[in-house]
Amino acid sequence: MSPVQILYLNPTAQLGGAEYSLLDLAGSLDRGRFVPLIACLGDGPLMQAAQARGIEAMPLELPSRFARLSLKGRRSGPVALAASAMSAAPVAWRIRRLASRAGIVHTNGNKAHVLGGLVNGRARLVWHVRDFWRGGAVERGMVRLANTRVDAVIANSAAVGGHLTRMGVSAPLVQAVPNGIDAVRFTPDGAAAPLRAEHGWPADAPLVGIVGMLTRWKGQDVLLRAFAGVLRSRPEARCVIAGDEIYVTQGQTGFKSELQQLVRELGIGHAVAFTGYRTDVPALLRALDVVVHASVEPEPFGRVVAEGMACGRPVIATDAGGVPEVTGASGTSALLVPAGDVGAMSAAIERLLGDRAEAGRLAAAGRQRILSTFSIAGHVERVQSIYERVLR
Ligand code: GLC
Repeated sequence: MSPVQILYLNPTAQLGGAEYSLLDLAGSLDRGRFVPLIACLGDGPLMQAAQARGIEAMPLELPSRFARLSLKGRRSGPVALAASAMSAAPVAWRIRRLASRAGIVHTNGNKAHVLGGLVNGRARLVWHVRDFWRGGAVERGMVRLANTRVDAVIANSAAVGGHLTRMGVSAPLVQAVPNGIDAVRFTPDGAAAPLRAEHGWPADAPLVGIVGMLTRWKGQDVLLRAFAGVLRSRPEARCVIAGDEIYVTQGQTGFKSELQQLVRELGIGHAVAFTGYRTDVPALLRALDVVVHASVEPEPFGRVVAEGMACGRPVIATDAGGVPEVTGASGTSALLVPAGDVGAMSAAIERLLGDRAEAGRLAAAGRQRILSTFSIAGHVERVQSIYERVLR
């Protein structure tokens, strides 16, 4: 039997956690059984990243009003949705043609779920849901679409899966499959990014950092406020904010300048640096004494938490969404703090900077947990068995 083509449909060509996870999956398929093709709405760095891993990828040109729609930032209203759905008709037509050659259409984000659900034709449809849907009319429509047209719904954590079934998605459709992490790239051994030197800081400055896109729900402001507290007892500490505004949808921009303003207001500019967008994430993580995750909304999975643990770094993360599935109970392989709690975040950072033995114990346990529970091979195996099932 010739291999089945899997058409991956991604809502953007930017590279965030959802895209890195998709690349790990598509790049590790058993090519004797499945052949990947990634189609993205728009053009961008995902194209080269896919090609570098031997995955065929193509951009689909997108009307800008459709590109800017969002269910996550400032929510787009029904009129905007309807108008832009019309503008997306030519793209939908192209996807339909691509789908006619595929055995499975695997969609990787909300816009892709909707488009895929309308044009999959005879191909099986698998939705990979990586967000907590809110409760609006669009999401209710997506629940109906799932129950009537979708063959399987992969949730990136049990928390997301439970949320979907509570919203009405039929339980037998939903399966939680956590991300796999490349524990060879994300390893404690290897070069660390020379962040301290880059910013003219002492080589032994205790360094705290957060890595991820700059958007309000990721809570970088909470870290900055917490770090201002840390500086009072540890003036030698330093903090890096790595990442940029990568999704240009409505209501998701402008946060970077707010963060820079907050740094000035807190008077901590001498101790904080913004690195901008970086692709050397393992080296960045290795440069940090403490890796912080600060999302103020429930994090669907929390890939960067897992990556920090895989790099053998002590991690502090917010206790919501899929994060506890990644870390286990607080204090076993990472510290968990309530979302938005500046005081608790400060205390956790001081604890890990002050108690290097505790930090080392958490870091070692964290790496072990990722190795034993979050392999890419395990992730791919579970997704492939979903493919086999829906093809039957
Ligand atoms: C999305 C989620 C994030 C998750 C990633 C990979 O980006 O927001 O929590 O880690 O997908 O599944």
